[in-house]
Amino acid sequence: MGKREEEKNGVPRGSSGWPFIGETLEFIACGYTSRPVTFMEKRKSLYGNVFKTHILGKAIIVSTDPDVNKVVLQNHGNVFIPCYPKSICELLGKSSILQMNGYVHKRVHAVIGVFLKSPQLKDRITRDIEKTVRLSLSTWMDKSRHVYLQDETKKITFEILVRVLLSIGPGEDMDFLKREFEEFIKGLICLPIKLPGTRLYKSLQSKEKLLKMVSQIVEERKMEMEKTEDKGFPNDVIDVLLRDAGESDGTHCLPLDFISGNIIEMMIPGEETVPTAMTVAVKFLTDNPTALARLVEENMELRKQKDFSCKEYSWKDYMSLPFTQNVISETLRLANIINAVWRKALKDVKIKDYLIPEGWCVLASFSSVHMDDINYENPYEFDPWRWDKTGAAVSSNTFTPFGGGQRLCPGLELSRLEISIFLHHLVTTCR
Ligand code: HEM
Repeated sequence: MGKREEEKNGVPRGSSGWPFIGETLEFIACGYTSRPVTFMEKRKSLYGNVFKTHILGKAIIVSTDPDVNKVVLQNHGNVFIPCYPKSICELLGKSSILQMNGYVHKRVHAVIGVFLKSPQLKDRITRDIEKTVRLSLSTWMDKSRHVYLQDETKKITFEILVRVLLSIGPGEDMDFLKREFEEFIKGLICLPIKLPGTRLYKSLQSKEKLLKMVSQIVEERKMEMEKTEDKGFPNDVIDVLLRDAGESDGTHCLPLDFISGNIIEMMIPGEETVPTAMTVAVKFLTDNPTALARLVEENMELRKQKDFSCKEYSWKDYMSLPFTQNVISETLRLANIINAVWRKALKDVKIKDYLIPEGWCVLASFSSVHMDDINYENPYEFDPWRWDKTGAAVSSNTFTPFGGGQRLCPGLELSRLEISIFLHHLVTTCR
């Protein structure tokens, strides 16, 4: 289609920039400023809420419109598939939950979601999170050392993540997993060249080592499972995926290598996101003493109640502190940890009056929606009270830190619980 014909058919307006590089340089440059959404804002004012550009080697349609984003995320009829840079696709493999589509994706997404949201898991993991947070905080009291918040929170959340996924506790195995995983993810954004010595090659080697270790655990678990009758509540995501295989009619079993691969790939969305949210929450609170004071007050009240009754906390106690939940929502809105998702259209799709032609990529920008003054008054201000007016923010068209629709983050509630517990113990034990 020529440019004129494209526009006549409803392909959003926009510029393709320079030959080959398109508008990539400006896109990346804006990413390094304090306002990465400037790239979107500039084009939005020229062409409207949905526009066309050319970045990272691809012609792409960018949506900053909450309604268009919603349709893309809902993905009725499986017309939008994930679309990642080549290095990510190479490292994930085709049967990763992050890349899969259709029936198998729905099934895996559903069983993991049910497990991660279950009260049984939350009951159990609350004790683990408390223990890990308390232990970590106790080491911060040593005044002779600097505390690097992001490193510390990363240690806490990695420990929880590997417990939930494959029941590994602190020790040599966890250290190995952490080391190799860090090496593996270094290659997610790199040149897609797979020759000895290149970044991608090293990352693939680390994935091999991870797979070897995880496959062994999965195989042992499968053998144990075959021996025992009483299954009880699953211990971790390995159990969940193995049982799903066992309960089907045998023709649709999830293969063991599929399970091992997915356990590793599921660490990707969980590894950086939660510690980043914890770290920036502390930064926002440090800059806003009034919000911090209110948070301390609310959490001290809970602590006093608990000390008085000598009862342990339940996950519901942590999740029912309204101001703390507002702080978390506001942190997620402002931090835009996952600022957009990328999809590719498998056929022509018309949304509102826009045409997304078959084969084109769409970037559904969450940060543009979160930072738009039409949706949020003074969007650059950290204002947890704004959520009092709109009610508890779970997910809506204009609030999508965890995505939405078919691929809505299954770790949503677990993440909020981890952050709530972390903030509670931080503000009630440290100054
Ligand atoms: C603050 C923390 C987190 C944020 C902001 C976040 C955000 C997101 C977003 C935006 C998506 C959608 C991606 C897409 O549509 O392509 C997603 C998917 C996903 N997240 Fe999270 N996430 C967080 C924590 C976690 C944790 C702790 C876990 C694991 C326990 C997790 C596991 C997943 C998985 C497996 C998917 C893929 C779902 C699918 O494609 O069906 N996330 N996350």
